[in-house]
Amino acid sequence: MGAQVFPPGSKEQMDWGVLAGYEEQKRTIEDCLLLPLLRPDVYAKLARATRKTFANNRPRAVLFEGPPGTGKTTSARVISSQAAVPLIYLPLEAVLSKWYGQSEQQLGAVFKAAEAMGGAIIFLDELDALGGNREAGGMHEASRRLLSVLLREMEGFDSETKRTVVIGATNRKTDLDPALLSRFDLVLTFGLPDTACRQLILKQYAQQLSDADLALLAERTPGMSGRDLRDVCEHTERRWASKIIRGEVKEEALPPLSEYLASAEERATAVQKVQQQAAAAGAVSRLLGAVGGGGGNAGGGAGGAGSRWW
Ligand SMILES: Nc1ncnc2c1ncn2[C@@H]1O[C@H](COP(=O)(O)OP(=O)(O)O)[C@@H](O)[C@H]1O
Ligand SMILES: [Mg+2]
Repeated sequence: MGAQVFPPGSKEQMDWGVLAGYEEQKRTIEDCLLLPLLRPDVYAKLARATRKTFANNRPRAVLFEGPPGTGKTTSARVISSQAAVPLIYLPLEAVLSKWYGQSEQQLGAVFKAAEAMGGAIIFLDELDALGGNREAGGMHEASRRLLSVLLREMEGFDSETKRTVVIGATNRKTDLDPALLSRFDLVLTFGLPDTACRQLILKQYAQQLSDADLALLAERTPGMSGRDLRDVCEHTERRWASKIIRGEVKEEALPPLSEYLASAEERATAVQKVQQQAAAAGAVSRLLGAVGGGGGNAGGGAGGAGSRWW
């Protein structure tokens, strides 16, 4: 029905080792999400002792914001695995088209299912698909309906006893409806990695390179996300594998720095071209009166999941 459930422990355990760097985000997640999921009893006992009337003191909803490919989805999977809580994955773009006209029942069913499982992480990916601001108009009817149901569910669910938490992810926090934004207890920003962080990430995917080589590659990959860097390394490996198969290089040789630099440069050029095309398309659609705002979507999609440049 558009949602995917990942039960904990069904596949290999995931831990923070899969995400290089981002230490501050990891620590905040440990403190604000993992510990409350692992030991809800401690939080409840504390709230009972401190408050005249009991109120939940655990976060119910957390927002991950930042550009694509910076580890938001991966973090949600790590949390689910570490806390041994199922992850219900709802990519809103797909959900909106699949649930057309039924968002009310379907979303209600998801929250009920989470409770029935004894708690779950409900991961609302691509929250910006609900885009726009209700007051400013320009929101599709289906999105508007889904948003109002979501606001109601997020208000209504009680996490005192159940280990249910909502994690939302968005590339553009500023585009979110203010009422929705206000439902999140905490906003965690996943920025693009700086040079030092890029080096750590690259070490994850090209461990045969020396630290000096990794530092140079990190310097030559400004603006790239963790996913971009992984893609550059994958691309390099594929090209290297074909060289091995064609007998151009020795079978036991591993790709050297120059190969990675070439892939990175190729990628940077391709990205530039896509950006120019998107800008040109945007200019054309503005000229034509921009019916339906297609230009904006094309821009957002260009850097989105699964984009390839070769
Ligand atoms: N810090 C990082 N270290 C290692 N790999 C990363 C890092 N950030 C992103 N990646 C790679 O990029 C992929 C996509 O990341 P993802 O969590 O889906 O990003 P987002 O949800 O923010 O778009 C991950 O599966 C991982 O392979
Ligand atoms: Mg994601």
